[in-house]
Amino acid sequence: MPLPDFVLAPADPFSAVTHAAPYDYYRRLADGPPLRFEASLDCWLATGTAGVRTVLEHPACRVRPPGLGVPLNLAGTPCGAIFAELVRMNDGERHTVPKQVLARALAQVDLARLQERVLQIAGKRVPASAAQLNDALFELPLFGMADLLGFAPAQWPALAAWTRDFVACLSPLSNEEQVAGAQDAANALLHGFTVLLREADALPGSLLHDIVTGADAVGWQASGGVLANLVGLLSQTCDATAGLLGNAVVALRAQPDLSAQLRAAPRLWPAVLREVSRHDPPIHNTRRYTADAVELLGVRIPAGQMIVVVLASAGCAESGFGHGRHACPGQSIAHSIATACLQAWAGGLEDMPLAWSYRPSLNARIPLFSDGERA
Ligand code: HEM
Repeated sequence: MPLPDFVLAPADPFSAVTHAAPYDYYRRLADGPPLRFEASLDCWLATGTAGVRTVLEHPACRVRPPGLGVPLNLAGTPCGAIFAELVRMNDGERHTVPKQVLARALAQVDLARLQERVLQIAGKRVPASAAQLNDALFELPLFGMADLLGFAPAQWPALAAWTRDFVACLSPLSNEEQVAGAQDAANALLHGFTVLLREADALPGSLLHDIVTGADAVGWQASGGVLANLVGLLSQTCDATAGLLGNAVVALRAQPDLSAQLRAAPRLWPAVLREVSRHDPPIHNTRRYTADAVELLGVRIPAGQMIVVVLASAGCAESGFGHGRHACPGQSIAHSIATACLQAWAGGLEDMPLAWSYRPSLNARIPLFSDGERA
């Protein structure tokens, strides 16, 4: 009979992501050498604060393998065209300028207003079952972002469904069917943003307006690039924020007293979410590839090697949102959206019998809830 997860430690950082209790394993990784070659995975591991930061800060550690801007299974497809432009997937000029525009525009967002809006939207969609909760974890953050970008409420469900289909092609675990299904979604998302951009002039002060005027101001003219990165804002929101919300629901289950405290003092929600981001983060690792031979922390790594950066072993506040030039520009937005959703849902979830496992993934920890036993 197989041993339950909590008895058997994860075999490697990929299986740790969906393991029931992976944090002792991550602590052991952090106590070991910050950079090591993991023969069973044929790649390097960067662990602990020093390993994670050193790799994420080094200019020779790139987000894509040398000469392979787009994964082979997406080459020549609509998804591949979007992928090729994403700030997340580029380094150098193609990263710096768009990143600056996006980060500035995202920093202008009125977080109190966003939180208020999402509180209203989430308040009308309180999940009444595990199945509804599973959908809501993905939908509500995407509805919040779609609203922020200027889409009308009637468009949100389709945008959320397309975003989920698009994201499904981005994982190393994606199958042919998911890659094929993502192409129509990619085209639909690009079309949606094209139409919205035509109307954006009418919305001064909106996030979309800030992105477009910011892009013009720094000469980021490739309109395909702007469109792709607008799609990127939805795709970056999708899995990560669903994971944050889901892991917060799990944290509330583990500490029943917390729900009562939060009911009495909802102002504590942001602090609770910060703790969840730190102790049970949604994104556990990311990857880098050496463009040249490098020496990092006294270890020589040849060119063309993959490094799995084990964010969850970094144990520092920013580990869940990355570090260095690719660090997440959406952290405050994600926290505002998650705070609002949980505030709206916590009462309804309190008595809901829930059990959970984790969705298959090599880097994102997203609970998949099912009907549990009533206490
Ligand atoms: C809890 C939710 C979120 C988590 C845990 C998260 C985590 C991350 C991490 C770890 C990275 C860096 C990846 C790397 O260096 O390889 C990243 C990048 C990024 N995130 Fe987030 N994210 C979240 C929500 C969001 C949201 C809501 C947005 C949009 C508003 C967003 C936009 C981005 C963008 C554009 C990048 C690429 C930045 C770059 O490459 O320079 N994220 N995120």
